Amino acid sequence: MPLSCQNQLIATKQRWQLLQHPLLQQKHIQLWISHLDTSLPEVSGNKCLKLKYHLQQVVAENKSGILTFGGAFSNHLAAVAASCNWLGLQSVAYVRTDTLDTANPTLAFCLRMGMQLHALDRTTYRRRSEPAFISQLQSQHPTLLIVPEGGSSEAGVRGVTELDLLNTPDGKANLITTATASGGTLAGLIERHASNILGIAVVKDQSLPTRVKQLLTTDSTNKNWQINMAFTGKGYGQFDETLLQFCRDLARHQLYVEPVYTGKALAGVFSLISSGAIAAGSRLSFFHTGGLQGLKGLFYRERITAADLALLSGNQYSANSMQ
Ligand SMILES: Cc1ncc(COP(=O)(O)O)c(C=O)c1O
Repeated sequence: MPLSCQNQLIATKQRWQLLQHPLLQQKHIQLWISHLDTSLPEVSGNKCLKLKYHLQQVVAENKSGILTFGGAFSNHLAAVAASCNWLGLQSVAYVRTDTLDTANPTLAFCLRMGMQLHALDRTTYRRRSEPAFISQLQSQHPTLLIVPEGGSSEAGVRGVTELDLLNTPDGKANLITTATASGGTLAGLIERHASNILGIAVVKDQSLPTRVKQLLTTDSTNKNWQINMAFTGKGYGQFDETLLQFCRDLARHQLYVEPVYTGKALAGVFSLISSGAIAAGSRLSFFHTGGLQGLKGLFYRERITAADLALLSGNQYSANSMQ
């Protein structure tokens, strides 16, 4: 696909889904799920927004592609690999792992997309934002744009500001919610909207509010936003049978989520609804940030069954078609 004839490098389409669920009915709550679809499933959700201006910069500055960082099952790595492949760009990833397991479905996908992978042990990986480390990588890869982990940079935040989560098909939402990990998505939603934005943390990271503030322009730091840290469970990527059961229940109501990001955050939203912390009669909007590819990695590590892989992905993935 020629780059020069595209303004929007990866076309996106917002789609609203009004979740039907007994708890919501009982509390007279409208919960609108905002999906953001692209032709590349791995790039849907917050990924296309966070990558948009990075990709535009690559094209505008005539760079050859993107270098980035992520865990071995990272949605961000899958998204960078897929979008660079689609646009005929190079992609390089430094992966937090001692050895590259090429049977891991996320890494296998990245390799198929032409991504070049390098393993970084945990200690070295911690240096991923240090200026000295970055400039060393930049001198090794002079033609690549370096994008931080999760795509959470000023450019990533700018992309997210383009999403309107306030105006649901049935009127204005009283509360806008999303899963929060590195904070870029939440920062973009805060920049865009005037008030009532709630990030549900899916990582145990006390520095998260500070990191979000660092990504905000000064005008936005005093807006009405919050991060709820009560639903991280045992930490990032950890989930129990109750949370898995919740995800299965949502799948039976035609909403497909995984338990690491969107499922964990929605379980938090449901808990706040049950307790009355979110008032009955509210209209909520929730950003479905994507990430269903992560289900393949959970199945690969035997943390979910083949039946769950199919159910939670809405039959997008199955044990027989793991690639
Ligand atoms: C599916 C999914 N949802 C939510 C998030 C959290 O977004 P952020 O890191 O911008 O807070 C991520 C991480 O990028 C993700 O992969």
